[in-house]
Order: sequence, then structure tokens, then C-alpha cells
Amino acid sequence: PSESVEQMIDRLCAKIPDYPEPGVLFRDLTPLFADGPGFKRTVEALADAFDGQFDCVAGVEARGFILAGAIANVAGCGVLPVRKEGKLPRETFKQSYQLEYGSATLEVHTDDLPRGSRVLVVDDLLATGGTLEATGHLLHRAGLHIAGFGLVMELTDLRGRAKLGGHRVRALYRV
Ligand code: PRP
Ligand code: ADE
Repeated sequence: PSESVEQMIDRLCAKIPDYPEPGVLFRDLTPLFADGPGFKRTVEALADAFDGQFDCVAGVEARGFILAGAIANVAGCGVLPVRKEGKLPRETFKQSYQLEYGSATLEVHTDDLPRGSRVLVVDDLLATGGTLEATGHLLHRAGLHIAGFGLVMELTDLRGRAKLGGHRVRALYRV
């Protein structure tokens, strides 16, 4: 193809100054997700980056959900929802964290997957890394193996990668 996946991400990412608060440059990937070829290439590139070395794909609410279902479908595996507080009906592990603009709590069911399953964690964007660090703690508590973290975009200035120490991190576009 004449346009690379990096070029597609660059072209289809909207940048919004001072959203959701002053000083944050918000990177909105909804135009990429809304574009058929853009979304397809993004999903395939993330699946390829981990070369089938996972048993399940975890998506972080809400933007990670969009990617997780599609990547799992390409790979022929299932999905694990990592949800914001108060949404999962059975016993959960819970982890609070800070992100670029505020704080939140994530939860995962204790027994959705067999212990030892290899889980690929995906999200749209890595900023401070608080969200994925918290997700890693949750999966660890559930006895799961982290196959890696897959992102569409990484904001390198915020050094989120340092919080994911030791694990494989693959971002399709770094800025
Ligand atoms: C955004 C983004 C990542 C997170 C990254 O989600 O989708 O999950 O922030 O930031 P961090 O690396 O500083 O933790 P947000 O919490 O805004 O939720 P949303 O997907 O529901 O919009
Ligand atoms: N999540 C955390 N920081 C973000 C940013 N700058 N743009 C989009 N999503 C984000």
C-alpha cells in the first residue's frame, strides 16, 4: 500500500488544545476508527506486532474496547473487559490510578480467564502510563501473564513506558 499505517494514524488523528482541561493537547483517534482502511490496518498491525503470542486480548474502557474486540477477532481469541469502577457484576479486583487529566478506578473480574493465560492489553493511547500500569496490576492479581501492551499512539514526553517496566510495549505511532 502507498500509505503506511503511521501515515494513516498521523492523517486521521485530530488534535484538540486545552481539552478536557487547560494545558492538555488531546489526541482524538475517532477519525481513524471511523475510516474503514485506517481501522483495518491499525487492527492488523497491532495483531501482527504480537505474532499470536497471546490467548486473549484485554481492552481498557472505553477506547480500548474498540480495538480489543477487533484484534481478538483477527487473532481468533476472546476478549477481557477492564472496566471503570462499578460496572462488573461479580467479584473483582480493583485498582485506582492517576492519568494525564485526573484519577479513576479500574476493575476486572477475578475469574473470567484461567490463571496463567497470556493476555495482550490494548488501548488507543499511552500518556502518563497510569491506566496501563493499573491494568497490569489487575491482571497480575488475577494470575494472568501479560503478553504485552499494544497502543496506537504513545506520547513519549510523558514517559509512560517507564511505568510498564519489563513488559513488551509496541506503539504504532510515537510522538
Ligand atoms: C484515555 C486513553 C487511555 C488513557 C491514557 O482514557 O484512552 O486509556 O487515557 O492516559 P494515561 O497513560 O495518562 O493513563 P480515559 O481515561 O480518558 O477514558 P475513555 O477511554 O473512557 O475516554
Ligand atoms: N489520554 C491521556 N492523555 C491523552 C491525550 N493527550 N489525548 C488523548 N487521550 C489521552
